[in-house]
Amino acid sequence: MTQQNRGRNVVVIGTQWGDEGKGKVVDWLTDHAAAVARFQGGHNAGHTLVIKGKKTALQLIPSGVMRDGVACYIGNGVVVDPSHLLSEIERLEAAGVDVRSRLFISESCPLILPFHVEVDRAREALRESSGAGKIGTTGKGIGPAYEDKVARRALRVQDLKHPERFAKKLHELLELHNFVLQGYLKGQPLEFQPIFDHAMKVAEQLRPMLADVGVRIDQTNLEGGNVLFEGAQGTLLDIDHGTYPYVTSSNCVAGNAAAGSGVGPDKLHYILGITKAYTTRVGSGPFPTELPIDAPGTVGHHLSTVGQERGTVTGRARRCGWLDAAALKRSILINGVSGLCITKLDVLDGLQEIKMCVGYELDGRRIDILPLDADEIVACKPVYETFPGWSDSTAGLTQWDHLPLNARRYLERVQECIGAPIDMVSTGPDREDTILLRHPYKA
Ligand code: GDP
Ligand code: IMO
Ligand code: MG
Repeated sequence: MTQQNRGRNVVVIGTQWGDEGKGKVVDWLTDHAAAVARFQGGHNAGHTLVIKGKKTALQLIPSGVMRDGVACYIGNGVVVDPSHLLSEIERLEAAGVDVRSRLFISESCPLILPFHVEVDRAREALRESSGAGKIGTTGKGIGPAYEDKVARRALRVQDLKHPERFAKKLHELLELHNFVLQGYLKGQPLEFQPIFDHAMKVAEQLRPMLADVGVRIDQTNLEGGNVLFEGAQGTLLDIDHGTYPYVTSSNCVAGNAAAGSGVGPDKLHYILGITKAYTTRVGSGPFPTELPIDAPGTVGHHLSTVGQERGTVTGRARRCGWLDAAALKRSILINGVSGLCITKLDVLDGLQEIKMCVGYELDGRRIDILPLDADEIVACKPVYETFPGWSDSTAGLTQWDHLPLNARRYLERVQECIGAPIDMVSTGPDREDTILLRHPYKA
């Protein structure tokens, strides 16, 4: 196989605060892919796929699993809760999906263990009671697991292969976390034996799926297969570039697709930014274009109810607001977006007018990109452009020319404001509800 015939790779990332519809789009693209790789985050993600009306919710397993024959990789940048992973596999198997023969888990993934979950939740409770205010985490232990990774003391997937090594490291780690849990967080300590026994039981089941993911991706490409890199969360939740400290604990940006899966950055050929036609956010933190969602008859209520904006992982109502082109500008910059897929356009159907934030007023100045300091973001007053809405339904449309004129005009202005081409539009939750303008694998 010559270099010319190598497969191509597309990275799918969220450009907002998560839940943009990444899972739907990844699933749609799998007809051109041999494999899908997750490269960061963990089961804090909730990706919903709808195929011929049937819903599947995924958290840790890549959104390639619903397409027969597509391999699914969990890269080194992902934090893995082994118990959760096994239950997700079992749930899919119960629905008739073959998982074990095509799921490959990097040996280098840090593990999420029960004390991480305890620390995550106890810390949130303390932040709330002390008046510091919650981050609003998913409570899955994501932050504490990444902290152990960076502190170079994490238990990793590969430790599951070596019971003695696992036991020794677990003793040390548990001692530390129990000290923090009891002494600082006023929680209950956890016992060694049940954690160890359960991990060893799960290890037996996971062992056949352990792999060197970087090498496998390279091999797939060498054989001419395309790979999709599936981002979780979104750019504004990125640990470095997001609205810190109201962020998740990993890099969600496209650059991390390479480091988080074990391939070189020259192997990322096209970056697809997923952007909801409006904005949502779950958890605390600044959100300049936020609208109240509770009162029937208001735009916020429309977005929340028509968009069914409720999280699949925690069941929390998502906060809703207008599209923020100034925030998106920063996302486009950081991710090097090649093209955009605008999702949930159909949710705007029936609104009389539609607004888009094109910049902010901050301390008497006009700025056109989201500031980096969360306190400054709070002080930003959005500057809006207003567009006429459309009354025709866009739900399920598959042709650009069939969109109402006002919808096309809105999208054309979005594209102009944020400086990235719209290559796809999603008009419904189902795989088929998709308009293609330029195919990411053919761009
Ligand atoms: P992800 O985390 O980025 O994968 O997004 P989620 O799956 O958490 O949230 C997106 C939700 O919107 C899911 O329930 C999808 O089924 C749904 N969805 C995706 N695209 C569209 C669309 O174009 N229109 C509508 N109405 N729903 C969509
Ligand atoms: P997907 O992949 C939306 C948010 C949480 C919280 C913050 C930190 O479905 O887009 P964490 O548990 O990660 O420490 O929580 O990040 N968050 C998400 N919001 N979609 C997600 O994933 C999210 N994953 C985490 O609500 O504000
Ligand atoms: Mg989600």
